[in-house]
Amino acid sequence: MDRLRIAGGRTLEGSVRISGAKNAALPCLAAGLLTAGELRLDNVPDVWDVGTLVRLLGDLGGRCEQLGQHRWALTTPEITNHEAPWELVRKMRASVLVLGPLLARCGRARVSLPGGCAIGARPIDRHLDGFASMGAEIRLEHGYVEARCERLRGAEITFDDVTVTGTENLMMAACLAEGTTVLHNAALEPEVVDLGELLIAMGAKIEGLGERTITIEGQEALGGTEHRVIPDRIEAGTFLIAVAITGGKVTLEEVEPAHLDAVLSALREVGLGIEIGERWIRVGNGRPLRAKGVVTEPYPGFPTDLQAQYMVLMTQAGGSSKISETIFEQRFMHVPELSRMGAAIQLAGNLATIEGPTPLTGAEVTASDLRASASLVLAGLAARGETIVHRIYHLDRGYERIEEKLATLGARIERVG
Ligand code: EPU
Repeated sequence: MDRLRIAGGRTLEGSVRISGAKNAALPCLAAGLLTAGELRLDNVPDVWDVGTLVRLLGDLGGRCEQLGQHRWALTTPEITNHEAPWELVRKMRASVLVLGPLLARCGRARVSLPGGCAIGARPIDRHLDGFASMGAEIRLEHGYVEARCERLRGAEITFDDVTVTGTENLMMAACLAEGTTVLHNAALEPEVVDLGELLIAMGAKIEGLGERTITIEGQEALGGTEHRVIPDRIEAGTFLIAVAITGGKVTLEEVEPAHLDAVLSALREVGLGIEIGERWIRVGNGRPLRAKGVVTEPYPGFPTDLQAQYMVLMTQAGGSSKISETIFEQRFMHVPELSRMGAAIQLAGNLATIEGPTPLTGAEVTASDLRASASLVLAGLAARGETIVHRIYHLDRGYERIEEKLATLGARIERVG
């Protein structure tokens, strides 16, 4: 099993190209099931989760062709199978994104329940309640969701709490439903907006993207189109924090600064110098680093997907900071590993209190989920001596060759078998 070996203590310099957003590419690919036309997607990141979804789409009747490293063409003349099996959903929870398109296109879906995952229970009840409001009959049997409908009917749906993939799933289904669907308390995440823009280009009628209420007027059919996936704001945030931790000066290219407002404002308060251009961000020279607490929130708040990485930064900042995780109940799996490297972190429920700065020392550590893995890599960059990160398949799910990108910037990091 691959591991990453990191020799810490190097500053980062240069420029790095940010990949397309994994969490936008996945729903955009799933949207290909809604049409018999050809969907061409550009700026799709070359990460494992994309490979897993492409496999699932192929099982369902999709023909996926990779046209280039980041370009895919997908055609689904008809749905030939309506099951997302446990082996795939277990590997990647976002497989549930095929539920809406399957129900809308062929009136039937059998999708394994995702079950627990490393960051919490993560049920999909809000997705299912929405489909039930649209007329689907839902049964839970043998660990699977069995959903059936004639044609879905438009409905007024209010999410009790914001859900990103829930909003995406219902928005996709509503595009082919009979009548109008109104989603209240919808997610505002840029990835939801990106999917909505793709759907509009396919012929959907959607209003209110990026607002709490989204209105979708169902159509008889959608067609093919071409679309460029937005840049990955979480990968960008991870590199910004890497530079903050190690020092140096780095320019991120092909990034959308507007998607990172909450992160950039936190990093400025920590003491970093940040310059912004139309599609780039330059970060550097943040010494001394000041402690600054954050609370994770749905967009436009500080993203939960950067909480673990930001915590490493706080171990290097002067003073005491508090990080409150409000989205996932168990997203502190990185804390014991960071503590083994010398971090001073106290946990109480969903609140972490970090005392800094503490020197970190290299250690053998084990990744537990995607973003926790990224935090261990960052800790390795900051640490004295050698760090080995085990189970980096988590990292490969969502970061495109992070070790190569970091090495280009001067980090001493290599993948070992
Ligand atoms: N929730 C429910 N019921 C539902 C849906 C969600 O209780 O039916 C709960 C979840 O358990 C969680 C909270 O609501 O506590 C928010 O979950 P949400 O549905 O918004 O998360 P998601 O759609 O499953 C997406 C991203 C995650 C990201 C979260 C929050 C994708 C493919 N995944 O997950 O990304 O952390 O939104 O922003 O878009 C990652 O990339 O590492 C990652 C985990």
